[in-house]
Amino acid sequence: MVGLPARGKSYTARRIERYLSWLGYRTRVFNVGEYRRAEVGAEMRHDFFDPDNPEGGEARRQVAMHALVDMIDWLDHEGQVAIYDATNTTLERRAMLKQRCEGAGFQVLFIEIHCDDQSIIENNIRSTKLSSPDYANVETEEAIRDFRARIAHYERIYEPMQEREGAYLRVAGAGRNVTVNNVDGYVCARLVFFLINLHLSDRSIWLTRHGESEYNVKELIGGDPDLSERGRQFAESLGDYLHGHIAEPDAMVVWTSSLKRAAQTAQPLGRRALSWRALDEIDSGICDGMSYEQIREQMPEEFAARSRDKFHYRYPRGESYQDIVQRLDPVVIELERSRKPVLVIAHQAVLRTLYAYFQGIPPEQCTRLVIPLHTMIQLRPHAYGCHELRVALEPRA
Ligand code: F6P
Repeated sequence: MVGLPARGKSYTARRIERYLSWLGYRTRVFNVGEYRRAEVGAEMRHDFFDPDNPEGGEARRQVAMHALVDMIDWLDHEGQVAIYDATNTTLERRAMLKQRCEGAGFQVLFIEIHCDDQSIIENNIRSTKLSSPDYANVETEEAIRDFRARIAHYERIYEPMQEREGAYLRVAGAGRNVTVNNVDGYVCARLVFFLINLHLSDRSIWLTRHGESEYNVKELIGGDPDLSERGRQFAESLGDYLHGHIAEPDAMVVWTSSLKRAAQTAQPLGRRALSWRALDEIDSGICDGMSYEQIREQMPEEFAARSRDKFHYRYPRGESYQDIVQRLDPVVIELERSRKPVLVIAHQAVLRTLYAYFQGIPPEQCTRLVIPLHTMIQLRPHAYGCHELRVALEPRA
């Protein structure tokens, strides 16, 4: 990461970490600020960051090196993508990082966050820096003054990214202006796409399974059944609930899978629904239309293999949870992009996977998450995760 303090580097780093981890890359953020707090203490005031303070400079250089050494060691042994989260504001520092990483055999992409919108900077200072351990026990106005002085030290030495430095992405204007220089490779290209769509507008994402289906009643999996009577009643309750929250039809976007039970659940909402095949339930292949009991009796090896490793297990001629992550990638990008609230009406396995993305749960652990029928899950993304509210909706008789 590259950029002055309070520009949203750590926020962006964590979002990238969550996204790439969800896609299956072993990803980790190395935050140099945390190394500094652990090694020299949290109570350093702005003069520690003054470029004319040689002791401060040396101490900061050392913690930066410790983080770098740990990061390269982690990449050497277990990691795939590491994010070095520090200001890295000088050409000299970046040249050193690039040389060390490339020397160890790793590809480097700089991500520069540029922002000169004072209201965003002020908001970042107030919403994240004041609660940082750096300012525990410091009175608010004093902490703000000190942090501004810290920023000013960095401004004096800041050298923005230059073309000759190699691969970089420069994100400016809160994501509206992205410059791509010399970027190549699949993961880097996905990051460009991801960062173009990232924003921090306050809106909700609502997740619900379709209403109870004829197959749910018979305890069968997959298929394309209609809703049961109770399922239709749930759709009515859902319509009432949403109307109570967002009455204006165009103020919300509704997405369903392409399966009948999801489309029928959206029908009473009185809003245009977009149908996505990518939201269809896990394809259970040769087991489609069976009950778990039947699978256990008729295909005990398959049943056992799935119980052993549900995330990687792929139904013969069907899908695994790992496959679902791949097909949900465009859905996640579109969810990130949307500035309006979105209601997703889908299915158990698909919603477990989407939920894992938003709550930062490692995808391997999503396969047994509880996503009940007739329950609305409201997620409100904020800087470091999502607020969650679950509401059980009684089918309306
Ligand atoms: O039972 C409902 C259902 O949506 C099935 O269609 C699907 O196969 C199953 O849930 C997915 O859940 P699990 O991965 O736990 O079998």
